[in-house]
Amino acid sequence: MIRIRPYASADLPTLVALFTASVHTLGAPHYGPDQLAAWAPRPPDLAGWRQRMEALTTLVAEDALGPCGFIAWEEDGHIELLYTAPRCARRGVATRLVQEAEDALSAVGVTVFSTEASLSAWPFFETQGFTVVEPQTVTRRGASFTRFLMRKENAA
Ligand SMILES: CC(C)(COP(=O)(O)OP(=O)(O)OC[C@H]1O[C@@H](n2cnc3c(N)ncnc32)[C@H](O)[C@@H]1OP(=O)(O)O)[C@@H](O)C(=O)NCCC(=O)NCCS
Repeated sequence: MIRIRPYASADLPTLVALFTASVHTLGAPHYGPDQLAAWAPRPPDLAGWRQRMEALTTLVAEDALGPCGFIAWEEDGHIELLYTAPRCARRGVATRLVQEAEDALSAVGVTVFSTEASLSAWPFFETQGFTVVEPQTVTRRGASFTRFLMRKENAA
C-alpha cells in the first residue's frame, strides 16, 4: 500500500540516501562506475541538497517500511527529480508520483510538463505520455552523460 505525502525537511537525509541507492542500482545497467559516482557522489553533499530542494515542490511515496520514492518539480512544470528506491521498483511508485505531480500542476493551470530523462528513465516517461524532444549530452563532475529532453502536453 503506497501513500503519497508532501516532503518535510526532516526527510532530506532519507531521500538523499534513496536517491543514491536508486542511481547506483537502477542506473547501473546504463551507466559506467565513473558516471554513477559523478551522478550520485558518496558521501552526498547534504548542504547542497538542502539548498536545491528549497526551490522545488516535492512529494514522497512511502509504504510500511518508509519512503519508496520521490518526485520534485519546478512551478513551470519541469520535473527535476524522480527516483524510486530499488526495493520498490516496478510497483507503480513513479507512475503514482508523476500522476500526483501532474494533478497538482494542472490545478494551478500548468498543462505542459518537461524533464531531462536518463537512459534508465526515458522508457518510463514514454509510458506516461512524454515524447522525446531531443537527445542531450551534459557533463557533471567531469563525467559525460546522454539524456533525453522529454515533453508532455495535457489538454487544458
Ligand atoms: C525510472 C524510475 C523512476 C521508474 O520507477 P518505477 O517506480 O520503477 O516505475 P513504475 O513501476 O511506475 O513503472 C511503470 C512502467 O514504466 C516502465 N518502466 C519502468 N522502469 C522501466 C525500466 N527500467 N525499463 C523499461 N521500462 C520501464 C514499465 O512499462 C513499467 O510498467 P511495468 O512494470 O508494468 O512493466 C526508476 O527506475 C528510477 O528511479 N531509476 C533510476 C533513477 C532515474 O533514472 N531517475 C530519473 C531521473 S531522470
